Amino acid sequence: MSANIAEMERRRDAARLGGGQKRIDTQHAKGKLTARERLDVLLDEDSFEGLDMYVEHNCVDFGMDGERIPGDGVVTGSGTINGRLVFVYSQDFTVFGGSLSERHAQKICKVMDNAMKVGAPVIGLNDSGGARIQEGVAALGGYAEVFQRNVLASGVIPQLSLIMGPCAGGAVYSPAMTDFIFMVKDSSYMFVTGPDVVKTVTNEFVTQEELGGAITHTTKTSVADLALENDIEALLTARDFFDYLPLSNREEVPERPSADPWDRHEMSLDTLIPANANQPYDMHEVIRKIVDEAEFFEIQPAHAANIIVGFGRIEGKTIGVVANQPLVMAGVLDINTSKKAARFVRFCDAFNIPILTLVDVPGFLPGTSQEHNGIIKHGAKLLFAYAEATVPKITVITRKAYGGAYDVMASKHLRGDLNYAWPTAEIAVMGAKGAVEIIFRGLSAEESAEKVAEYEERFANPFVAASKGFIDEVIYPHSTRRRIALGLRKLRGKSLENPWKKHDNIPL
Ligand code: HXC
Repeated sequence: MSANIAEMERRRDAARLGGGQKRIDTQHAKGKLTARERLDVLLDEDSFEGLDMYVEHNCVDFGMDGERIPGDGVVTGSGTINGRLVFVYSQDFTVFGGSLSERHAQKICKVMDNAMKVGAPVIGLNDSGGARIQEGVAALGGYAEVFQRNVLASGVIPQLSLIMGPCAGGAVYSPAMTDFIFMVKDSSYMFVTGPDVVKTVTNEFVTQEELGGAITHTTKTSVADLALENDIEALLTARDFFDYLPLSNREEVPERPSADPWDRHEMSLDTLIPANANQPYDMHEVIRKIVDEAEFFEIQPAHAANIIVGFGRIEGKTIGVVANQPLVMAGVLDINTSKKAARFVRFCDAFNIPILTLVDVPGFLPGTSQEHNGIIKHGAKLLFAYAEATVPKITVITRKAYGGAYDVMASKHLRGDLNYAWPTAEIAVMGAKGAVEIIFRGLSAEESAEKVAEYEERFANPFVAASKGFIDEVIYPHSTRRRIALGLRKLRGKSLENPWKKHDNIPL
C-alpha cells in the first residue's frame, strides 16, 4: 500500500512540475506566473480541486511518443471565489508552450460540461502557442469541440477569459465567444495572424503589441474589456468581477451585505447639472453617488468612452449600469457606443441583472463616416437589445434625451419599467436650433432667436413627456438612489416573456 501511495505522490509531483524547473524559471523571468500559481491567486485558499492530472497526449508523430508530460499542458478543475463555485482551466506554457492537443481540449471540455451540468461559471486562463503543431487536425478538432461548448454555454453560464500570454490563430475564437476578456499588458496578445504573416501578405511592419496587445484590444478593437498591469492584478480583478455575477441564468444576482443606506439622499446631485446645457459634467460622478459604497466595476472604460457600462450594486445586489457620458463627445451615440452597450445589455438580460440607464444624449452622431460604416445597423443593435430585454429596467433622464436616441435609451416605449426624469431633463425630437432651422426656413437672425426660445420653452423640460405618461415621475436628483432601490424592490417579482421563437435575428 505505501508503495502505491508513494507512486501516486511521485506522479503528482511530476504533474505539478509541468515542463520542469528550467521552463518555470523562464516563465517567471517573463514576469508571468505558472498555471498553478495563477489558480492559487484566483481561487480561495485551498479550494482548488483538480481533475485529469494524469492525462497525457496520444500523439506518436515527430518523436512525441517519447515526450509525455502528465496533465498535457492544462490544469483543470473547480474551486471557489469568495465561497462561490467556479470551474477553471489554466494553460501551462511550460508544457509544449501550452499548446492545445486533442487530450488538452478534452480536459477543457470536461470542465465546461461539468459547469453546464451544475450551473456555474467558467474562467479560462489562456497562455498557449495555439494548436499542438505535431498533432495536426486532431488539435483543430479539439478547438472546435471547445468552440461548440462556448456557444452552447453562452447565456447559460457566465464565461470569462483571461489572456495571460500568446493567443493566436483560430485559438482566439474561444475567448472571443466568452462574455468578457481581460488581458495582461505587455505579456499577452491576440491575433488571427501574427506580424510575420502580416508582413508577407500586406507588407506592413507591425509589432505583436501594436497588432494585438492589451492596449490595442481595449482601445481600438474592443475585443477585450480590460487591460491589467500584470498577472496578479488581472487575477485579483477577476475575483472582484466574479462577485457581481450570478452563477447561471437560473440564479438570481448575488447579494452581499451593504452598510450604505438604501434611502441615502445625495444632495450634491441637485446642483450637478451645469446651468449651460452645452457644458459637460462627469456621469461617473452620478453613478458613484447612486450605487452602494460608490463601487462601480466599469467594462471597456478605454473604448467608446461616450457611453459608460459596468456593474454596481443597490442594497447589495448587482445592477448593470448603462450611461451616456456628456464629458466625451457630448455623450452622443455612434457605432462603437451602440455595439458596446448592446452587448452589455444582452449580457445583463441573459443573466437576470436589472439595468439602470442614465440618459444624457444629444442624439446619434451625424456624418458620412458613421452612415457609410453602418450606423443604421449598429445603432439598431442597441435598440434591439433594450427592446428584447425582459429584466427590470429603470431609466433616469438627467438632461438631454433627443431624437431616436431618446427612444433607444430604455424609453417607456421599449418596456421601461420605471422612467424617471430630473427637472433638468430636455426631451424632444431635436435641439431647438436645428428644429427651428427646419420648420421655419428663411427667418432673420432675430426671428430665429425668438423661435428658438419658444421651442426651448416648450420642449426643453420633462413635463411634456410626463404629461403623456412617457415619464412616470419627475424626481429630485438627490432622491435618485432611494427611487431606484424602491423600484428594484417592487420589480423583483417582474415576469415578462417574449413570444416563443427559436432565436431572434438581431442586426449583426
Ligand atoms: C507545439 C509548441 C507550440 C505549438 C510553442 N511550442 N508553440 N509546441 N505546438 N503550437 C513549444 C515550443 O516548441 C517550445 O518547446 C515551447 O513551446 C516554448 O516555445 P518558444 O517558442 O520557446 O517560446 P516563445 O519564444 O515564448 O514563443 C512563443 C510563441 C512561439 C510565440 C507562441 O512558440 C510560436 O510562435 N509558436 C507557434 C505558434 C503557432 O503558429 N501556433 C499554431 C497556430 S495555428 P520547448 O520544448 O523548446 O520548451 C492554430 C490553429 C488553431 O493555432 C485553429 C483553431 C480553429
